[in-house]
Amino acid sequence: ARLVVLVSGSGTNLQALLDACADPAYGARVVAVGADREDIEGLARADRAGVPTFVRQVSDFETRDGWDAALATVVERFEPDVVVSAGFMKLLSQDFLDRFLTLNTHPALCPAFPGMHGPRDALEHGVKVTGATLFVVDAGVDTGPIVAQVPVPVEEDDDVASLHERIKAAERQMLVDAVGRIAREGITVEGRRVRIGAVAR
Ligand code: GRF
Repeated sequence: ARLVVLVSGSGTNLQALLDACADPAYGARVVAVGADREDIEGLARADRAGVPTFVRQVSDFETRDGWDAALATVVERFEPDVVVSAGFMKLLSQDFLDRFLTLNTHPALCPAFPGMHGPRDALEHGVKVTGATLFVVDAGVDTGPIVAQVPVPVEEDDDVASLHERIKAAERQMLVDAVGRIAREGITVEGRRVRIGAVAR
């Protein structure tokens, strides 16, 4: 399967996918990495892996729709089977989502703690278990059909950084496992139900 990965930052999720894809048995290949900003570690990781990159910055376009359409145009060029938004900090339009099956990771157990501050919000709420979620992106914020989830314990002495780091380790493994299965076995999305390797009913 052909993957286009979108990043906005450090790109450790991207790195986990790049490492997994080095094994041909994994069944997927990162064919391009896109970003909404320059000079980020995620793009450097793609460069080091010899994967083509592209950048489309919202500020370079007159309208948000113009940016989104330009992003879709360049993504299309790489003919992805799946787009993986891995720490990509922009919402995508319905038009983009209609064209590409897009997966996103979120550092919380959806539908709990959506938005930009999953680890902080989980800590503030005092939950004892949080985690990470892989989902099919829809028009909402972290609301799409759930593909995979992994629980992560909250420790007594956690701060936001330590909790997020523990979540990210689990998140990377979840992403690699689920994307590999999807690449090898396929995915079916029917309403809110997601099946990997089986026809949903
Ligand atoms: C991940 O926890 C992702 O879920 C969140 O931001 C983090 C990105 O990390 N939205 P990285 O860029 O993959 O290192």
